Amino acid sequence: MTIAEPSWVSTIDADKLLENKKAAIYPKGLPVLLIKQGGRIHAISNKCAHMACPLAGGVLEDCIIRCPCHNWGFDIKTGEFLDAKEIKIQVYQTKLLEGKIYVKI
Ligand code: FES
Repeated sequence: MTIAEPSWVSTIDADKLLENKKAAIYPKGLPVLLIKQGGRIHAISNKCAHMACPLAGGVLEDCIIRCPCHNWGFDIKTGEFLDAKEIKIQVYQTKLLEGKIYVKI
């Protein structure tokens, strides 16, 4: 089995994602959460590293998202779990092109 190289995938319209808001998307069928903060668009896994709860239902405070299930906090820039940085959720690169948000996945 070969693993495909990451490629840019077109997702939602950039103007659909408002500041301090989240959007759950499924590029290549994977659960990804887009978050806009400080004018930047972040893309992280939408599966908590603890027991895979969707982070889309979590609370966002600055650069930290808290899982709705057991309150684990992750840095949305690095994916690091706050209490043990060796535990991470996947983060993905994003870019804007012709009004669309692209995720490298
Ligand atoms: S599943 Fe996220 S903190 Fe437990």
